[in-house]
Amino acid sequence: EKGGYEHFMLKEIYEQPSAILDTFRGRLLANEGIIKMSGIEDNMKKFLNADRIIIVACGTSWHAGLVAEYIFEDLARIPVEVEYASEFRYRNPVITEKDIVIAISQSGETADTLAAIKLAKSKGAFVFGVCNVVGSSIARESDAGAYTHAGPEIGVASTKAFTTQITVLTLMALRLARAKGTMSSSDFRRHLIELELIPDKVKKALESDAYVNTVAEIYKDAKNCLYLGRGYNFPVALEGALKLKEISYIHAEGYPAAEMKHGPIALIDEQMPVIVIATKKGHYEKVVSNIQEIKSRSGKIIGIVTEGDESVRNLADHVIEVPDCSESLSPLLTTIPLQLLSYHIAVKLGKNVDQPRNLAKSVTVE
Ligand code: M6R
Repeated sequence: EKGGYEHFMLKEIYEQPSAILDTFRGRLLANEGIIKMSGIEDNMKKFLNADRIIIVACGTSWHAGLVAEYIFEDLARIPVEVEYASEFRYRNPVITEKDIVIAISQSGETADTLAAIKLAKSKGAFVFGVCNVVGSSIARESDAGAYTHAGPEIGVASTKAFTTQITVLTLMALRLARAKGTMSSSDFRRHLIELELIPDKVKKALESDAYVNTVAEIYKDAKNCLYLGRGYNFPVALEGALKLKEISYIHAEGYPAAEMKHGPIALIDEQMPVIVIATKKGHYEKVVSNIQEIKSRSGKIIGIVTEGDESVRNLADHVIEVPDCSESLSPLLTTIPLQLLSYHIAVKLGKNVDQPRNLAKSVTVE
C-alpha cells in the first residue's frame, strides 16, 4: 500500500503532482479562461460583500492559511487575518455577519478548529471549509466549502495536504479577483496558464531528491536549524521548520528573513545550518543581502533558488534549484525540497517518519 516507497510520507511527497491535478479537476479550465467552484459561485454575494476573511487553522494548515493571506490580499484585495484556532476561540474575538471565516483542516476533525467555527457561526459569520477528508466534522459544520481532493494522507507529517490546500485557496483567490475586478482578464488568463504548469514543475522540483539526500547527510547531526523566507515564502520557512521538528526531533525555527537582525542572528555560528528560500521573484535582492549577513557570521547556507541562479550560488554552501514561476505560486515549489530534506534527515537518524513520537494524525483533543 506504500506503492513501493519506504514510507507513506515519501509516497505522499511524490504524489503531489497528481494530487494537485486532482485539486484542479473540474475547477481549473485554463483554455476557456474559467475557474469553476460551486462553493464560491453559490455564495458569490457573500464573498463580494465581505469586510474581511478570517482564516482559522492549526499546524501545517495554519501555514497554508498564511500563504493564503498573501494570495487573497495581493490578488483579490480582501483583508485577511490568520488565526490559530486555539487562540481565536478563547479570545472573545470580534466577529460579525459581514465576516467570512475559512477553516482549513486536512482531517476535518481538529478539535480547536471545529470549536472555532462553531463560535464563528454562533456570531453570524459565514463559514467556508477547506478540508481533505470528505464528510468530516468540519466539512459538515461549514456553510459551504471546497475539498482539496488530495486523497488519503497517512503520514503524520502533512505534505500533499499542504500543497493542495494552497492550490484550492489560490483557485478561490483568483475566482474572487476576477469577480471583484481586481485583476484584468489578461492577467487572470496568464495566471490560469501558469497554474496549469504547476504539477509538471512540482515533478521537476522532486528531481532534486538525490542532491537533497546528500545535503541531509551533511547536516543530519545538527542540533538547531534556521529557516528563512520573505513574502509568500515566509510561511514556507515556518512549514519547513515544523516538518524538521516533527519527524527528526531537531530544533528548528522559521523566521521572516528580515527579522533575523532583530534577534535570531545572535544564534548564527559555523554550527548553524540556515535554509534560505531565495527564489528570483519576490524580494530577491533583499534576501541575497540577508544571506551575506549569515555568511559573514560563518553560518552554513542552504539556498532554495530558481533554476540558473548565480548570485546565491556564489555565496551559499549548497543550492537546491526549483523551476521558475510567479511569486504567488512559488510556495508550491519551494516546499518540495524542504519536505525532502526533513524526510531524509529523519530516515538517516533512524526516526519513525510516518508515526513520530507524541503526535497523532488528527488532534481531537483541545
Ligand atoms: O487535520 P488538520 O489539518 O486540522 O491538522 C492540523 C495540524 O494538527 C497538522 O497540520 C499538524 O501540524 C501536522 N502534524 C503537521 O505536519
